[in-house]
Amino acid sequence: MTRLALIGGIYSNYHALEAALDTMDRRGVDGVYCLGDVGGFGPYPDRVYPLLRSRGVECLQGNYDNSLAGGLGDCQCGYTDPRDNYFARLSYRYTFERTSQENKKWLGTLPTLVRLEVEGWRVLLCHGSPRKMNEFLWESTSPDSFLEYLLDESQADIVGVTHTGIKWQRKLSDDRLFVNVGVLGRPENNGQTCVWYTELSLSEQRASVNFVPVVYDHQALAADMQAEALPRQFIETILTGWWTTCLEILPHKERARGRF
Ligand SMILES: [Fe+2]
Repeated sequence: MTRLALIGGIYSNYHALEAALDTMDRRGVDGVYCLGDVGGFGPYPDRVYPLLRSRGVECLQGNYDNSLAGGLGDCQCGYTDPRDNYFARLSYRYTFERTSQENKKWLGTLPTLVRLEVEGWRVLLCHGSPRKMNEFLWESTSPDSFLEYLLDESQADIVGVTHTGIKWQRKLSDDRLFVNVGVLGRPENNGQTCVWYTELSLSEQRASVNFVPVVYDHQALAADMQAEALPRQFIETILTGWWTTCLEILPHKERARGRF
């Protein structure tokens, strides 16, 4: 049996990353992968990098990382709503100005896809989808046929993605599996302040997913965000577990579960 920990967007939440890594140490895992979006949204972006390096986390490039490394003018988050884009710009400018040159350069060295062969399973890890770094794959708008197509196209038995901020999994034909691993950076719009990472357990016979809650010092994160004058709407999300921004991209079903 091999157990891998898969982390979605960290969004500079070094408090949650530290708590998640401690949880993984306690539970025991055979490898840790971050599926991208190291920075954004949260405070003090450079605080995440020493944790990733010292704890041996294998990282992929997300849209945020690609933008920071390339010196782009925006985060390529893929929003269409003007209000969402307004907050995305604020967040990106803050993160860009406070991420060191060395860390930006490192982000540019990261792969956009990782392929693993584990216990006979072909595993593909990426950020948005195997075909596009900033594609949003939501549970309610991803029919089985579409996910099967993505698995076939990418010649994988198991695909792991992030980018949307909300976790889900789908069992498909031939025991194949598609999983959105969620994010560590902010709660998932359900009124809980915890965040999540994903454990993928693989044996020759079976592949299964376990979503692991991470309770961390969200009050300390909120205090940091206040000290850095980040938008009060972001801080409200951290303190309440309800999204106040990035709402327009949510499909009807996912949005109906939230407060706003
Ligand atoms: Fe992303």
